[in-house]
Amino acid sequence: MIELRNVSQRFAGPRGWIEALHNVNLTIPPGEVFGIIGRSGAGKSTLVRTVNLLTRPTEGDIVVNGRALTALAPRELREARREIGMIFQHFNLLSSRTVFENVALPLELAGMKRAQIDETVLPLLELVGLTAQKDRYPAQISGGQKQRVGIARALASKPKVLLSDEATSALDPETTRAILDLLRKINRELGLTVVLITHQMEVIKQVCDRVAVLDAGRVVEEGRVIDVFLQPRHEVTRALLGDVIAQELPPALKARVAERLKTGSGHLLRLAFSGTGVDQPVLSETIRRFELDFNILHGRIDEIQGQAFGSLAVLAGGDPVKVAQAITWLREQGVVVEELSYVE
Ligand SMILES: Nc1ncnc2c1ncn2[C@@H]1O[C@H](COP(=O)(O)OP(=O)(O)OP(=O)(O)O)[C@@H](O)[C@H]1O
Ligand SMILES: [Mg+2]
Repeated sequence: MIELRNVSQRFAGPRGWIEALHNVNLTIPPGEVFGIIGRSGAGKSTLVRTVNLLTRPTEGDIVVNGRALTALAPRELREARREIGMIFQHFNLLSSRTVFENVALPLELAGMKRAQIDETVLPLLELVGLTAQKDRYPAQISGGQKQRVGIARALASKPKVLLSDEATSALDPETTRAILDLLRKINRELGLTVVLITHQMEVIKQVCDRVAVLDAGRVVEEGRVIDVFLQPRHEVTRALLGDVIAQELPPALKARVAERLKTGSGHLLRLAFSGTGVDQPVLSETIRRFELDFNILHGRIDEIQGQAFGSLAVLAGGDPVKVAQAITWLREQGVVVEELSYVE
């Protein structure tokens, strides 16, 4: 369990203080993959560095597995940090050391004997799928393999928590998927809590149980990933979801939609379905029942943690009273309906 209690972080900037984190409160349950997403400069890296006190917060407490890190003496803190592994966007491997030696490094530094190092490192290389590459140097392996080394190295000291700061940002989509699958496997098999920082909703969707959205140093939204995808509450979340419909519509269509909203001859609806709702012909039933015409502007079906999830943007035309009735009816069918009043 990781708790951040009233954590604030200020840095001295050229024009006064920069408040990188503002009164952040988060509880990350053990054994979860917890995502933190936000735009560039939102404070994500600052937040993750605060968790293991690489940067000490200006205010507030970090409590990891019941221990307030912020209250520990330097020696105790070094010990507590061993329970927290970290992986990075640019892998941070030593080029003069082989794959094996990179993973072994933290153990050598801790004074572990050679035989015991072998006993620890070889199974880790097996776990991350690098047994055959163990004697290669970083220059001789791919980006995805480098990140696997980074992961194995982070696991060498048997941490309970793994922090990941944009660990897949330098990788192509397919490699990203493989690395995220690996993190999931580690989370399941070793029971590790994973805190994963990203600016991509795709990453959150693929691997996280819960997500917190960070904006300008504040947590603006938090919840189960499926809930946040179904019903994003904060504007930043919607923008990150790419679900601000305006962003996804071609300009010409956008202008036409805007015109119809202005004249009141159309209603712009964002529908989100989960689970079985996706399979049901809810939409055609709505059109028939309420004698509406629906223009489908944009739609997609995704899967989150094995659960089907669809979202659809439609422009509904017809009697406004019937549109209102249709919205009520759709909600009764378990569809999340949001009416949007503009497309800017
Ligand atoms: N050591 C520092 N000194 C001064 N300002 C800092 C320092 N570290 C971060 N900042 C500032 O704090 C804010 C948050 O930075 P942070 O690196 O945490 O953002 P981020 O969400 O990780 O962004 P990115 O997605 O670009 O990595 C930024 O305005 C940044 O300039
Ligand atoms: Mg960052």
